[in-house]
Amino acid sequence: MITRSMQTATRQVIFFFLVLVFLVNETRCSPPEDPVKCFSCNSNNCTVINAYGAFPDRATCHAAMAVYPSSEAELIKAVAMATKRKTKIKVATKYSHSIPKLACPGGEEGLIISTRNLNRVLSVNFTSMTMTVESGMLLKDIIAAAADAGLALPNAPYFWGLTVGGMLATGAHGSTLIGKGSAVHEYVVALRIVTPASGHKGFARVRSLEVGDREFDAVRVSLGVLGVVSQVTLKLDPIFKRSITYIESDDSDLAFNVVDFGKQYEFADITWFPGHKKAAYSVDFRVPTNATGDGSIDLFESRPTPVLDAVASRLQEEAWEATNNNEAKCNNSEIIISTLSAAGYGLTNNGTVFTGYPVIGFQNKLQSSGSCLNSNEDNLTTVCSWDPRVRGSFIQQTTFTIALSKVKDFILDFQKLRDMNPNALCGLDLYGGILIRYVKGSTAFLGEQEDAVDFDMTYYRSHDPKSPRLHEDFLEEIEQMGLFKYGGLPHWGKDRNLAYDGVAKKYAKIGEFLKVKKAFDPDGLFSSEWSDQVLGIQGRRTSIVRDGCALEGLCVCSEDSHCSPANGYFCRPGKVYTDARVCSKVKSFSLSLSDQTSYKDS
Ligand SMILES: *[C@@H]1O[C@H](CO)[C@@H](O)[C@H](O)[C@H]1NC(C)=O
Ligand SMILES: *[C@@H]1O[C@H](CO)[C@@H](O)[C@H](O)[C@H]1NC(C)=O
Ligand SMILES: *[C@@H]1O[C@H](CO)[C@@H](O)[C@H](O)[C@H]1NC(C)=O
Ligand SMILES: *[C@@H]1O[C@H](CO)[C@@H](O)[C@H](O)[C@H]1NC(C)=O
Ligand SMILES: *[C@@H]1O[C@H](CO)[C@@H](O)[C@H](O)[C@H]1NC(C)=O
Ligand SMILES: *[C@@H]1O[C@H](CO)[C@@H](O)[C@H](O)[C@H]1NC(C)=O
Repeated sequence: MITRSMQTATRQVIFFFLVLVFLVNETRCSPPEDPVKCFSCNSNNCTVINAYGAFPDRATCHAAMAVYPSSEAELIKAVAMATKRKTKIKVATKYSHSIPKLACPGGEEGLIISTRNLNRVLSVNFTSMTMTVESGMLLKDIIAAAADAGLALPNAPYFWGLTVGGMLATGAHGSTLIGKGSAVHEYVVALRIVTPASGHKGFARVRSLEVGDREFDAVRVSLGVLGVVSQVTLKLDPIFKRSITYIESDDSDLAFNVVDFGKQYEFADITWFPGHKKAAYSVDFRVPTNATGDGSIDLFESRPTPVLDAVASRLQEEAWEATNNNEAKCNNSEIIISTLSAAGYGLTNNGTVFTGYPVIGFQNKLQSSGSCLNSNEDNLTTVCSWDPRVRGSFIQQTTFTIALSKVKDFILDFQKLRDMNPNALCGLDLYGGILIRYVKGSTAFLGEQEDAVDFDMTYYRSHDPKSPRLHEDFLEEIEQMGLFKYGGLPHWGKDRNLAYDGVAKKYAKIGEFLKVKKAFDPDGLFSSEWSDQVLGIQGRRTSIVRDGCALEGLCVCSEDSHCSPANGYFCRPGKVYTDARVCSKVKSFSLSLSDQTSYKDS
């Protein structure tokens, strides 16, 4: 028995994170598909989807047409054509990693403008340390081009399959409380955006904006509703080196350390394994460029995954879900935690192997990764684990930032809930734990409102929208605690619908943002149902209330039917945050729905 379960467990590690570096080089990798598909050249029949193959409400978005401009002039033509016809417009990127429906044009007759071919560096100026790129350029290519010029983007997301336009639209960030902060939009000093215009101006115009312009703080984080960003000028640093050391400990003093730790090290982050009460602190700071080391990072979650492993791993997890097997989730995530630890969390000292801390290397090799996107082969033998062409990983994310002043109490509440049943959170550890990062307050209207700590949680999503998740009450309570009790702000590109309901009120300058929107896009051509709901235009809400809606995060439950009574999941108050309403498994099915004490048994 022991051998069997050890074997299964070891396989599991390999399934979830491709442990062995050599696999990366030896297997063929299929790049993800284009998220935009048109079924025939002029059939007026296109769809757009995200990289995960499913929006939160599982709807498919339609559009009449898609264009792929490869210059600003072509981009202007596309916007002018749509404006003339009063057609809705949305921008899609090469891979479209945003989870919510930001890339869906309103209605079915819209135009998709893909920035796939807007992917060039336009200029680099070493004196001013600026680089101007087209908006569809991937973070991966920006990092490489900057390094070629002896420059580095000081902070960025950890996955490099994102475009600069997409990162700005969603406020994407890395981790720091120092300098300008971790959000990419803090490093933008100028940009050009194509917006609709009146007929006598040719139906489209380019607006060139820079730091200090009144509208600059609107366009830096825009959810894509102001127009199409054409070019972005980034302010960079001379290339530098970092020194990284992970320090592992239990999580008993996490709440008390989290703020100071973030203030102490420029690139600090924390990987938190709440099911196992462990935390790995990344002590990560700049060192002189003559410090010895040629370290690199290739994070496990974005390495190429063999298709067979992705499928097997998913089947395994589905079996655990079906049999309520928390213990297996805990045993397997334990092995993942020790594997991550032994493998330096994806770091290497010299580009190939991890031999010990500190790992010292150049910023461009340590700041971001995404090797699953590599290669032009199309064999579908290895993929990004979330590739929807494969029946592998299928996930939801809950991500929010909590102000520094509140984060201690949030973590203490979280741990109080966790301690009622630690195994209930092993499902998070299975996906590499909670990533805790730091984000500085921003003057961007839809940016971070004050210095804050970001919590990034990834977890199982059933293919059946009516099927509850094992211990989903815990995750729902944490989600509502973060968003409502502690006033957390969602990530524009990651969360489930409930996180955005009424969210516009949390942004002090939402009114100014909407004024710029009115000026740039008076007919709302860049608006969609989703963006109007998120921005609270005419009181619209993001929640979708229907049977089972709470299971997918489309609503907060207020009735049992929003959960899954057939599977024994009923709408109940939270255990620590009692204002929360969560889908709890009630042990005895025979308890009547009106039995108000039954939730205490769950
Ligand atoms: C769009 O194309 C798909 C695939 O060819 C087809 O199934 C669908 O019926 C088409 N829809 C319309 C509105 O033409
Ligand atoms: C580069 O930046 C410097 C400093 O801002 C400026 O004086 C110079 O004209 C720029 N060079 C080019 C080619 O734009
Ligand atoms: C790095 O350079 C600094 C100043 O240029 C020098 O003082 C230091 O000794 C150098 N360190 C190494 C490891 O070469
Ligand atoms: C989990 O690990 C424990 C301790 O090693 C073992 O007793 C138990 O059988 C394992 N459970 C499962 C489901 O693998
Ligand atoms: C990295 O170090 C390992 C072991 O020290 C060695 O086998 C390998 O060849 C090195 N790789 C490079 C690129 O130097
Ligand atoms: C992948 O596909 C290419 C082109 O079809 C082919 O040449 C290559 O041999 C295939 N590789 C594998 C590993 O199957």
